[in-house]
Amino acid sequence: MNAQAPVGVFDSGLGGLSVLREIRRLLPREDLLYVADSAHVPYGDKPERLIRERAFTLTRFLVDQGAKAIVVACNTATAAAVGQLREEFTDIPIVAMEPAVKPAVSATRSGTIGVLATVGTLSSARFAALLARHAGEARILTQPCPGLVEQVEAGELTSARTRALLEQYLRPLLAAGADTLILGCTHYPFLKPLIRELAGPNVDIIDTGPAVARQLQRVLDRHGLLRKSGRGVEQFWTSGDSQALQNAASALWGSGVLIEKLPTDTVVI
Ligand code: DGL
Repeated sequence: MNAQAPVGVFDSGLGGLSVLREIRRLLPREDLLYVADSAHVPYGDKPERLIRERAFTLTRFLVDQGAKAIVVACNTATAAAVGQLREEFTDIPIVAMEPAVKPAVSATRSGTIGVLATVGTLSSARFAALLARHAGEARILTQPCPGLVEQVEAGELTSARTRALLEQYLRPLLAAGADTLILGCTHYPFLKPLIRELAGPNVDIIDTGPAVARQLQRVLDRHGLLRKSGRGVEQFWTSGDSQALQNAASALWGSGVLIEKLPTDTVVI
């Protein structure tokens, strides 16, 4: 493996761009490959078996493109697949993510924490194990958020429907006294301004993206794979309609992105 090689990142759709932007900020020299599995978004209500197959296929694709490390920029795919992915791809480091329960337990003053995530993440054995390890005395309230991923995919970060969904999901958490909210899905950081507005200034909102970028930096450094010079570029693929995705992706990324279509054999299940 060589330090000049790119880092491969994937998500069910555009949510992982919230992680990609943290990686780009911290590691400006790295070339980054990003796959949005838009033909299969959302992962949150899909069976684990399907998500696992997609995670294998996309990781294989990124490895074939020469990736030196993989970032699973998706909590749902991590919950469903990361163990098996690491067993299968033994010679490449895989950085994954899960809801930031541990930092939230340190941050809470009221002792009540809300976790916003997909049904898949919240119902996974991996999440149950995470709570058993880190929840301690804190009261952890989980809130599945169906529909939010679709709003972000559509670029609707502030529409009336997005606001109504968020109000519905935040209300019980805030009423129960949650003073810390964990964004347990990589799509939700794009909704942070609206969440902040609805939750008010006294609630901590915790996003895992920056910690994932730091973990990637540590892992690359440990393997002697950090790029020491140059200016990194990004390359984007989707399993969905690349034309249709272009506008929403460019808006979320903050500058024009060119999205290529994945080869057909990596699109179907
Ligand atoms: N963005 C992903 C996550 O972090 C998946 C969301 C979805 O496709 O349901 O969980």
